[in-house]
Amino acid sequence: MGPKEAQHQEYLTARESYLKQLTSLSRRGFLRVAGIAAATVAATGKIAAHSFQPIEFDFGGEGGASGGAAAAPEAPKSFTIAYVSDSHLYEKKLNERFVRAAIKAVADVNALDPQPDFVLFGGDLAQLGAPGELALGKQILDELKPKRYMMVGEHDWYFDMGEKWRELFGKETYSFDHKGVHFVVLQSVVVEDYWTKPNLTPLQRMQAMAQLDNPHGRPFTVGEAQREWLKNDLAAVPKTTPLVVFSHSPLYKYYKAWNFWTDDAEQVQALLAPFKTVTVIHGHTHQMLSNRIGNISFHGMLSTAWPWPYAPHGLPKLTVQMNRADPFDEFDGCGDGSMDVLKSGEVNARYNLWSRNPVTITARYLDSGGKVDQPPLAVDSTY
Ligand SMILES: [Fe+2]
Ligand SMILES: [Fe+2]
Repeated sequence: MGPKEAQHQEYLTARESYLKQLTSLSRRGFLRVAGIAAATVAATGKIAAHSFQPIEFDFGGEGGASGGAAAAPEAPKSFTIAYVSDSHLYEKKLNERFVRAAIKAVADVNALDPQPDFVLFGGDLAQLGAPGELALGKQILDELKPKRYMMVGEHDWYFDMGEKWRELFGKETYSFDHKGVHFVVLQSVVVEDYWTKPNLTPLQRMQAMAQLDNPHGRPFTVGEAQREWLKNDLAAVPKTTPLVVFSHSPLYKYYKAWNFWTDDAEQVQALLAPFKTVTVIHGHTHQMLSNRIGNISFHGMLSTAWPWPYAPHGLPKLTVQMNRADPFDEFDGCGDGSMDVLKSGEVNARYNLWSRNPVTITARYLDSGGKVDQPPLAVDSTY
């Protein structure tokens, strides 16, 4: 057995014992397995040792992204946040691949230097909303060193209508202020009742929701109650304060058949329109995805579990596409990311693709309609 095979065997043995003990995971245990995972990845030679790339925010104006092509090449950064999203965890006895990926993302964030101001989890922590899946996810995310904010995805919700999620993480709709930016977290996966009439069980309701082409499909919405909440929340915020909204579904209409879509998007956008600088950061679509509608910039988050293909039509024109993921590489097209909040309040979004070079979609790229800061292609970093 060569050194790589021996290392791999050692990893398999350690992983097995780790998974047996995952329910009583300690910090030391977590760090050990994260280290083993990293060593194995390095041993396969498939994945570059680069890792996490953070979201940058810029508020304040000078040389900011709104200057378009004439703006300074390096807009001053105010602070950075990180994200991990769409982990889709099954209980460990069924599938530990996604567990490994979630642990890898947490290790990525913890290795960032300097540390981000906080990390957002972008929804779909669980695959079928099972209490055990959500508890496992919490256990893994509890190892994050920065402060953590949580958002709900449809996979977390439709088994028990959010009961376990709320018990573990608190409210699903909330806002907070950080360094002059107003952040809002929405539950954007509200759908009409499709389960009562056909008398679906909670699991059937969840399984229907988990399909990409759901035969019981109803479009996602933010819904009237939350729109009212948002209107009241924003009433107290000056229009010059930068807004960053986190939603699980994209707050626009991309592709309805896969629910890459929010049905009341225009009504939500109308509430955001009066603000000078608005960024929406969403999960759910598992791909590099960029859009601009009026004053609102949109960035999709990567999934740690799998990449979705691009929809057959409706792709926003400013999106820089990843090429098709390599099916022999379980991490290809997956990743995590970060955002630099710039002094202007706008955001540079970095996609930390685990098997490819990282890609940054800058505020200037979106502001200029794609004329400046054209990012390089997200090619496989082994080429
Ligand atoms: Fe997802
Ligand atoms: Fe989702």
